[in-house]
Amino acid sequence: MRLQDALLGTKMPVITFANTKGGAGKTTAVLLLATELVQQGFRVTVLDADPQQWITRWHKLSAVSDRLTVVPYVNASTIERNIADARPTTDYFIVDLPGARTSLLATAIGLSDHVLIPIQGCAMDAQGGANVLELLQYLERRANIRVPHSVVLTRVNPMVTTRALLAVKGLLAQRNVDVLNIPIVERAAFRDVFDCGGSLHTMDETQVSNLDKARENARLFAEEMVRRVPVKRAASRRRRAA
Ligand SMILES: Nc1ncnc2c1ncn2[C@@H]1O[C@H](COP(=O)(O)OP(=O)(O)OP(=O)(O)O)[C@@H](O)[C@H]1O
Ligand SMILES: [Mg+2]
Repeated sequence: MRLQDALLGTKMPVITFANTKGGAGKTTAVLLLATELVQQGFRVTVLDADPQQWITRWHKLSAVSDRLTVVPYVNASTIERNIADARPTTDYFIVDLPGARTSLLATAIGLSDHVLIPIQGCAMDAQGGANVLELLQYLERRANIRVPHSVVLTRVNPMVTTRALLAVKGLLAQRNVDVLNIPIVERAAFRDVFDCGGSLHTMDETQVSNLDKARENARLFAEEMVRRVPVKRAASRRRRAA
């Protein structure tokens, strides 16, 4: 926790999603966590640091809530200022990084209270996640900077436990990596929400298959993150979404 926050007794956590491999499910997980936290009454600022600007484009499609702010074109030289500027009006910061090794990765990690590494449970290739884990270990070893982190398994098959999932889990267990209890399941709703705009809660149940299960998955994922990375004094501010 930062000294200023400690003195004030406040904490607006910064959660960064990182995986240097493209397509691991970062942006999808960012959208789910942001919209669920907003649904729970938190004020969320998403820092869109991906040059492709998926979150910014999605946000422009329809306003989710005035509790959600998306800051576009965040980069290594602006991120610290972006966080400082929005701190008074934010409970949670969520950072969406590009799927590549950039100077922004280390900068964002250094500013984070928690790094979440999405790794596809449906693919054997966990190398992009391993790169981030190595960087976190390097920062701890060389600079004594310890940033709490965990893996969230993504695109997990809802019907069967695949061999690929078991292999990824085995690899992570061998390395003593903390894995979230709730994986993000492969759901059509998680793709469609980017085209529809809004959130899982504004989508039409008659148009999207298994929307109830997608909502339940996103809610449990966000609840686990709130337990792991709580906001101090948030209780007095929390309002249930209408
Ligand atoms: N849980 C999921 N269910 C269904 N589709 C998913 C899920 N997670 C990701 N996808 C799809 O996989 C593709 C890649 O996901 P996403 O854009 O979230 O990955 P990313 O890590 O942000 O990629 P990049 O590194 O390019 O930014 C997208 O088409 C997305 O819709
Ligand atoms: Mg992305």
